[in-house]
Amino acid sequence: MRKIYIFDTTLRDGEQSPGVNLNVKEKVEIALQLEKLGIDRIEAGFPAASPGDLAGVNAVARAVKNATVIGLSRSREGDIDAVREALVGAADPCLHLFLATSPIHREHKLRMDKGQVLEAAEAAIKYASKYFDKIEFSLEDAGRTELDFICEVTAMAIRAGAKVVNIPDTVGFLTPYEYGNIFKTVKEQVPGVEKIQLSAHCHDDLGMATANALAAILNGADQIEGTINGIGERAGNTAIEEVAMALETRQEFYGAKTSLVLNEIYRTSRLVSKLTGMPVPGNKAIIGANAFAHESGIHQDGMLKEKTTYEIMSPETIGLKESKLVLGKHSGRHAFRENLAELGYEGMSEEQLNIAFAKFKELADKKKIVTEEDIRAIVEEKLVDTVEMYALDFIHVSYGNQSVPTATVRVHTHEGEVIEEVALGNGSVDAIYKALDRATKEEVELSDYSIKSVTQGKDALGEVHVLLKQNGVSVQGRGVSTDILEASARAYLDGVNRMIEKRKQSKGSASGEISFK
Ligand code: KIV
Ligand code: ZN
Repeated sequence: MRKIYIFDTTLRDGEQSPGVNLNVKEKVEIALQLEKLGIDRIEAGFPAASPGDLAGVNAVARAVKNATVIGLSRSREGDIDAVREALVGAADPCLHLFLATSPIHREHKLRMDKGQVLEAAEAAIKYASKYFDKIEFSLEDAGRTELDFICEVTAMAIRAGAKVVNIPDTVGFLTPYEYGNIFKTVKEQVPGVEKIQLSAHCHDDLGMATANALAAILNGADQIEGTINGIGERAGNTAIEEVAMALETRQEFYGAKTSLVLNEIYRTSRLVSKLTGMPVPGNKAIIGANAFAHESGIHQDGMLKEKTTYEIMSPETIGLKESKLVLGKHSGRHAFRENLAELGYEGMSEEQLNIAFAKFKELADKKKIVTEEDIRAIVEEKLVDTVEMYALDFIHVSYGNQSVPTATVRVHTHEGEVIEEVALGNGSVDAIYKALDRATKEEVELSDYSIKSVTQGKDALGEVHVLLKQNGVSVQGRGVSTDILEASARAYLDGVNRMIEKRKQSKGSASGEISFK
């Protein structure tokens, strides 16, 4: 069976989702989980974008041992040099060069004609060949590029030394038929194409990213680029879990498979959702909360008689075990540790384990039944506040439907300063957020707020997600608690901490064309 290589760009294209800002530690944590998932190639970032990005790529390059680590670069020497520096220490480094090829980009963005594009790309590949054995070249906005020019640029890239040529549908414009036809034509017409790999990179603006990637596979693509949970700027990228499960479930149709460790999909999805602060919609294919839920009586009846009536793949395949009662308030540390290992949370430090156990005991006192989902929510909350500017000590809210809500909050900084503030608000959450604004002296705008329960029942844990904005920059925040006001406060403070971190990281960023979707 044909092997399809998976190129994960969660840490680069995915990180360019609005509000997402991963620090170096978080990038490494995701990269190591991608390695466990069996991802072949990990694009860790765009080193020329900022010193923070360069440091993130370098940390991933040094940590990952069993996957190729890739750095993105415009077709310029300075960018290529930044990737060289960032990939020092990588077991298997690769440079990802790109240049736009479509008439719209040539005319309005690059102000270059076809000849100049060919020349600039060739010069970049040749310069890079002095330092890299593995080079991928991408024709940005290939989806809106003349087909004969795609073939011409691909032929040039092969001659110049690229090992992979990527043909992206940068703006998610194409239909599966059109996208597949590009691959078919390139395969048939470009001399030397058999010596390299062809790659597909799709965006989901019209909801076609997975369909287009699969059409590319049917027409000869060797590699699929995508992200976990399909995150990415605008409508996002191809969801890797969707491609992997489509190939697995319809093997007889595609005759191709990935080498992903499928039962790591769910865990990877949770981790990416937690660290990016981007919740997975309930109806999302494969990893959404409802993806394996059967609601109607007719479906439930069918499932009880024979699972295959309504189930085309099993939840266990992606690592989703049936939720069962795990622990109660009398469970000890040993049982807790064993349950964590069973859920896949291994390698926690003693300090993290102690904090998680204390949180579990606190929760078990409030809730009779502590489920797998509760345990995941506890462990997935930040367990050590090492890099955070502010941590929450307490909130106190006074509320009555005939009076003005008042909130008192106390936070401490990582330098040990304790700050207490009071504020009035239009509602309890508003009062808490105003008090936190005063305490942190950060002026942020709340542009989105959502709350969901982690499990069922009145005593369920509540999970709050916020999107905060400051000077045109947005960040996500997440908080969990059995009390929704506390969860709201934690989510807001998490967002504020991320905003401060992002501000620090963006100092010294490259200007100009740094976003490529
Ligand atoms: O969408 C796109 O074209 C990209 C390139 C940089 C590959 O992300
Ligand atoms: Zn992209």
